Amino acid sequence: MVSTKDILADSLRSSVLIIKHKDKLSPDYVPENLPHREDKIRELGFTFRGLLTGESKDSERVVIVGRTGTGKTATVKLFGKSFEDIAEREYGVKVKYIHINCYRHRSLYLISQEIGNALKLPVPARGLSSQELFKMVHEYLDRRNIHLIVGLDEFGHFLNTAPTEEIYFLVRLYDEISAIIKRISYIFIVNDSYSIYKLDKSIRDHIVRRVIEFQPYKSTELYDILKYRTSEAFNENTVDDEALQFIANTYGFDKGGSGNARIAIETLSLAGEIAEKEGSPIVLLDHVKRANSAINPEIQEIVDSLSYLDLHQLILLEALIRVLKRNKADEITMGMLENEYISLARELNEEPRKHTQVYEYLRKLKAIGVVNTRQSGKGMRGRTTLVSLSLPLDKKLDEYITQQILVKLKSRT
Ligand SMILES: Nc1ncnc2c1ncn2[C@@H]1O[C@H](COP(=O)(O)OP(=O)(O)OP(=O)(O)O)[C@@H](O)[C@H]1O
Ligand SMILES: [Mg+2]
Repeated sequence: MVSTKDILADSLRSSVLIIKHKDKLSPDYVPENLPHREDKIRELGFTFRGLLTGESKDSERVVIVGRTGTGKTATVKLFGKSFEDIAEREYGVKVKYIHINCYRHRSLYLISQEIGNALKLPVPARGLSSQELFKMVHEYLDRRNIHLIVGLDEFGHFLNTAPTEEIYFLVRLYDEISAIIKRISYIFIVNDSYSIYKLDKSIRDHIVRRVIEFQPYKSTELYDILKYRTSEAFNENTVDDEALQFIANTYGFDKGGSGNARIAIETLSLAGEIAEKEGSPIVLLDHVKRANSAINPEIQEIVDSLSYLDLHQLILLEALIRVLKRNKADEITMGMLENEYISLARELNEEPRKHTQVYEYLRKLKAIGVVNTRQSGKGMRGRTTLVSLSLPLDKKLDEYITQQILVKLKSRT
């Protein structure tokens, strides 16, 4: 009998390694170059150039908006790091960039703590309010002549959950702190502009000075990105060009895909693993196709189960899609959904069902995994249910649901 050790030793010897640096394919890794985001980096540089020349004593603000996987986080992190370096090396100016994820740190207190920690300030464990902490940070920056750029990533989560006073304080900082040089500037990163435009004008105007939009990637852009990431992470000549083309065409926004670089890279990474496991010296189209269906299996399952839904459950789902699209939002309130459901049902000459029944339908949609719900935080008045779609909102899905509704309507008559 062959021993386990022998089997293992054998398999380790024979396995061909295609992937050279697995870590360089991880979603958190920030590459040194970002093909097709050069102009966004330039725009960011333009926004903050006043800090280097000393021309501007004002706090700069910029909003970055774009769908998931369009390179917002990677671009801003890369910009922050490079800007710090150039400021010091070429201008002799001290700039510090701090990146904060507002999904993890969604209160003013947690944000101020993060800033304190990043600057290595001796933050007392207890007794300081966020406001006092910000003052302490500012005094520190003044003493050391440092400019701070704070990147507030996933900022929509803070806007959706923090109390208005906290949003107000963070955004209108210099109404609270008097400073000759306004040393704290912001980069606000959001997935959709809805979370900002629904804000009160007095807050909104302080956030929206300049907006940089990140469009979903086209297939040729994804191809260049994949090619570059392949050169970083894989051994030379181990990925077939056809394989890269396939991923780029599947996810390219111009080809009906989501334009999401993260999923494209994830597919490439998994295809590499599949090829390695099979002892293939090269990643081929077939490996990519299998990786692709492994990454999206639930989606197909969910789509299949849609055909078993009742007419009114489908109408509710279509109503959700309509409101999300109209508001360019990721999430809406139950109230908005219900209103849209009622008007859509009437449009289809259907008697809208009662409130409790609509809740039942929502439960059903949740059970098959097509929608998500959560309770809003204390920021909004009272607590309300927020509804989102768990699948990527694409044209095909929308058309499929409309078609299912028509089929059900027809079978009625
Ligand atoms: N132009 C690019 N070149 C190389 N890699 C890229 C590029 N754009 C994005 N990526 C990679 O794709 C992945 C997703 O990018 P990133 O996390 O920056 O997206 P995002 O817009 O912040 O998405 P989300 O809204 O979900 O946070 C990351 O691994 C990133 O390194
Ligand atoms: Mg991000």
